[in-house]
Amino acid sequence: MSVVDNETIERDRKHVWHHLSQHSVLTSQDPMIMVKGEGSRVWDIKGNSYLDASAGGVWCVNVGYGRTSIGDAIRDQVCKINFFASTAGTIPGAIFAEKLISKMPGMSRVYYASSGSEANEKAFKIVRQISHKKYGGKKYKILYRERDYHGSTIATLSATGQEERRDQYGPFVPGFVEFPHCCEYRSQFGDVDNYGELAALELEKAILREGADTVGAVILEPITAGGGVITPPEGYWPKIMEICKKYNVLLHIDEVVCGLGRTGEWFGYQHYGIKPDIVTLAKGVASSYAAISCTVTTEAVFNEFLGESSDKDVYFRDISTYAGCTGGPAAAIENMRIIEDEDLVTNSAVMGKYLLEGLDRLKEKFDIIGDVRGKGLLLGIELVSDRQAKTPVPEQVAAKVAGMCMQKGLIIGRTNRSFEKFNNTLCLCPVLTLNQTEADFILSTLDAVFTELPA
Ligand SMILES: Cc1ncc(COP(=O)(O)O)c(C=O)c1O
Repeated sequence: MSVVDNETIERDRKHVWHHLSQHSVLTSQDPMIMVKGEGSRVWDIKGNSYLDASAGGVWCVNVGYGRTSIGDAIRDQVCKINFFASTAGTIPGAIFAEKLISKMPGMSRVYYASSGSEANEKAFKIVRQISHKKYGGKKYKILYRERDYHGSTIATLSATGQEERRDQYGPFVPGFVEFPHCCEYRSQFGDVDNYGELAALELEKAILREGADTVGAVILEPITAGGGVITPPEGYWPKIMEICKKYNVLLHIDEVVCGLGRTGEWFGYQHYGIKPDIVTLAKGVASSYAAISCTVTTEAVFNEFLGESSDKDVYFRDISTYAGCTGGPAAAIENMRIIEDEDLVTNSAVMGKYLLEGLDRLKEKFDIIGDVRGKGLLLGIELVSDRQAKTPVPEQVAAKVAGMCMQKGLIIGRTNRSFEKFNNTLCLCPVLTLNQTEADFILSTLDAVFTELPA
């Protein structure tokens, strides 16, 4: 039997401040400390092994754990040159940008940083600067959708449609305006045939209410992830694109979760024929072997910043130190090679369909499951206490289910203190190498947990 490393546990308990965690709990229970990963499995410091259906807890580790070739790529690169400020270029930065753009027809330029929040902040600054350059500062507002999440900084929280996440962090940045969600299961319009169109028209209403000449952009997740895995209803995206075009509003797609094969296409927006002006990426870009994010724009957006070198107001006056770390793009190149060579985008689509069919069967068996939805390996299970009334279960029930899964060796995610009413969705987001045996384990574990769940 392996000896538990109590020294590390105590060091952690004393000095590390865990994210999204109430530390008083850790006086009576040990902090979880992860020590190893291989494929879709992780091991904690006590030797427990889990199938990780959360890709690292926050939908990141797309190509799975233990990829020594990514480690080698990072090592080789940082031993040559680890860093130079991103005012200059680097070899892996140039190679990855070209590879990325080859997967994103219509897009043209890659602006590096190191987190999803930062990538979104860059996009906001681009929109604001264009507003100043072209519209006298007037077209500065950025619309965002109820239930979407865009990051943890004050500006990205200002653009986040999750009230519990925002609670106590205001006042927020002016100029960010919310419009209603598009979750058909929670339709605001009753039982209608054209839900997608009606939900999209909420964007138009918001633009008209604010004044089209004041709205610079809208930020949207192609499929809402942490807000409850909300797949867009039929007819939604064509209408959204039509509205953006009509009112000259830039379309910013946040692919921080959906990007890099997660949903069974290279990028989530590619399911829906969306033509974005800005796309932001992080998490899966290097499967979190290194911290890298990208704000990708069209050439038209980039061209707004071209001009005389003597003009201090024309170019994008932004920099983040760690955008110059070469380990990020080196890891991202190898990560993309793995996704291509192992055809993980297809695997995501195939295994995602298999899991979704399994979840549909669970829904028939257990009344607590109100809705299952998702695309590729991004799936959600919405729990209700009354199917007819669609009453959401309290957050403790979703937490209990996740805790029981954990005890059976399965890590799943859930909407976590995000909403006043809707912290009732379990999230599945396994690594993209998932095989059928592993998918069956996810399904049989959920089956066992719902069977054992106290009434
Ligand atoms: C859709 C989306 N956008 C942005 C972010 C923020 O990314 P980061 O935590 O890397 O700042 C997240 C994080 O979960 C996310 O889910």
